[in-house]
Amino acid sequence: MHKPLTKQNRFDAARKDAGMLELGVCYYPEQWPREKWDEDARRMVELGLTWVRIGEFAWSHIEPQSGTFQWEWMDEAIEVLGCAGLKVILGTPTAAPPKWLVDRYPDILPVDARGVVRKFGARRHYCFSSRRYRLEAARITEAMARRYGDNPFVHAWQTDNEYGDHDTIHSYSDEAKRAFREWLAARYGTVEAMNRAWGTQFWSMHYNSFDEVDLPNNLVEEPTPTHLVDYYRFSSDQVKSFNKVQVDILRRHSPGRPVTHNFMNQNTDFDHYKVGEDIDIASWDVYPMGGLINGRLSDEEKARYLRVGDPDQTAFNHDIYRAVGRGRVWVMEQQPGPVNWAAHNQSPADGMVRLWTWLAYAHGIDMVSYFRWRQAPFAQEQFHAGLLLPNSEVDQGYLEVAQVAEEMVRLPEGEAREKAEVAIVLDYESRFATRALPQGQGYAASAIALDWYSAIARLGVDVDVIGQHADLSGYKLVVAPDLVIADADFIARLKASGAKALFGPRSGSKTREMHIPADLPPGPLADLLDFRVTRVESLPEYHCEPVLYGNTSHAVTGWRELIRTTETMLATFEGGHRQGSPAIIGNAKARYVGTLPRGEFLSKLMGDTLGWANVNSLPDLGDLRLARRGKLHFAFNYGSMPAAVPASPTADFLVGGRELAPVDVAIWTQTP
Ligand code: GAL
Repeated sequence: MHKPLTKQNRFDAARKDAGMLELGVCYYPEQWPREKWDEDARRMVELGLTWVRIGEFAWSHIEPQSGTFQWEWMDEAIEVLGCAGLKVILGTPTAAPPKWLVDRYPDILPVDARGVVRKFGARRHYCFSSRRYRLEAARITEAMARRYGDNPFVHAWQTDNEYGDHDTIHSYSDEAKRAFREWLAARYGTVEAMNRAWGTQFWSMHYNSFDEVDLPNNLVEEPTPTHLVDYYRFSSDQVKSFNKVQVDILRRHSPGRPVTHNFMNQNTDFDHYKVGEDIDIASWDVYPMGGLINGRLSDEEKARYLRVGDPDQTAFNHDIYRAVGRGRVWVMEQQPGPVNWAAHNQSPADGMVRLWTWLAYAHGIDMVSYFRWRQAPFAQEQFHAGLLLPNSEVDQGYLEVAQVAEEMVRLPEGEAREKAEVAIVLDYESRFATRALPQGQGYAASAIALDWYSAIARLGVDVDVIGQHADLSGYKLVVAPDLVIADADFIARLKASGAKALFGPRSGSKTREMHIPADLPPGPLADLLDFRVTRVESLPEYHCEPVLYGNTSHAVTGWRELIRTTETMLATFEGGHRQGSPAIIGNAKARYVGTLPRGEFLSKLMGDTLGWANVNSLPDLGDLRLARRGKLHFAFNYGSMPAAVPASPTADFLVGGRELAPVDVAIWTQTP
């Protein structure tokens, strides 16, 4: 089945595979003796893998000293892997600049918010604004692209590695300061325009020239939020332009090979749509165990899902990156067992590696690559599992990948994820806005959006994630949990579309300049719904307010708005304070929620909203999750009890059956 191909036909053969699930692995030939490579490659192919990613941290092995290149080992590694039948994804090594480079040009190092230089000795030690580093990154990318651009075994490129990992988007270096001033000059044209936008008449902050502006760190009090959001926008643009330099070089020397970047779980430090515009395939790195530990759930829920992860976080990210990749998305790194980097690093339940792989496929991912082939017995990630143990024996992850490879062949080819009926809006600038001006400790927009997504997923409904630029045609419902900065154009297109809309609190509450809209919040949303928000309050977790929705009273905390409206009140605050004031309002087109429903309240609200928008949903699925990809239906059991799969009587099961064991997957087709 996995016969090695000849050099000539391999590139074409690979292109034909698009549309079916493919599997791959991250491999570091430079970390293992040469005599292991052939056997490793053979075993990868035997397991059913067709892709292998290499190279993304190999700079000092390629160029051990300035201008001295040693390519032979990489030539040979690519040859060995390619001849075994694997397609190589080659990473540019710019996430790990070598020591000689850092020593020669110390100004490439990033500076943290305290003003302390982040030193060499790990990775990602560069500042996106360093002109010198951009030149060096372009130089090494060009050298690699020239050497391997038309290598028949190299089928795709990855730029850098995980922009944003280790909190590296924001740097406070002199280079960043210089670049920020230039960015401001380009954005505002005149310093007076910037002064107006920033509101510098407040606290005597007026600037006479762009050259006086500093970065917004180490201040006595908080900066003006416009200064901060502009700095976040600037930092985001730096990522885009840094990435674009590499993409352009790769396209020049390696035409026809897709370029990807591996993004991260829930990262909102930069506008991923903008970076996504420049690449062919979005990929992301799936580590649900760490995601659970660092995530939104209560300790009690974390204990319950400890070995299976948050049932919605990974799916949500698949949907996000499907949007970032404009439909083309891969998993570049899939956790194969315990990892090393979270506060605690539990082992996934046996079966989860298989479940995560099928979950990815169900959400539109075409390739899942595991991190990593073999556990490293040295350096930082010794506790991080691989598909193999350090002594090359197979580990649990390997067995589960083998099972997927065996199941894969039962599925029809070419099934594609279709457009969903429900879209959820993720807007990166709005996240910058909440971060700059949270108005309440712990206000976590990412967690709120995931709660809303989860409330829909629990009702068995597929979701697309969209930015404000998206085409809205075909959607029955658009849900915007945290659209703080709403574009008038987006609202106008939403109004003209056939979709109904549900907005969360703070929607439309800030202009692009981070001001309160002239006619009060919700700014442009007032075109959809007649209301004004005249006061907001953040509430501590130890205080709850009763909200009457239908005939049921629900407790809310965290956030409450005072709304003036002529629209229908769908829910009201019923505590002593401002008794009877609206909590949820609506008309035939749109609804607005002026608080943060959670749990049963959110679930009920979402169920009602789906019904109102004419979207079919199921009763709460508990720990079961569903997804569709073309004519394939998928069910995943995150619970500790067997669950009944809601398949029609005509269902034809390809994997699993009507009763699903814990940590198990069912895949079926059915006539509607
Ligand atoms: C990712 C990173 C990999 C590896 C992995 C460990 O964030 O891209 O290089 O460190 O984490 O889980």
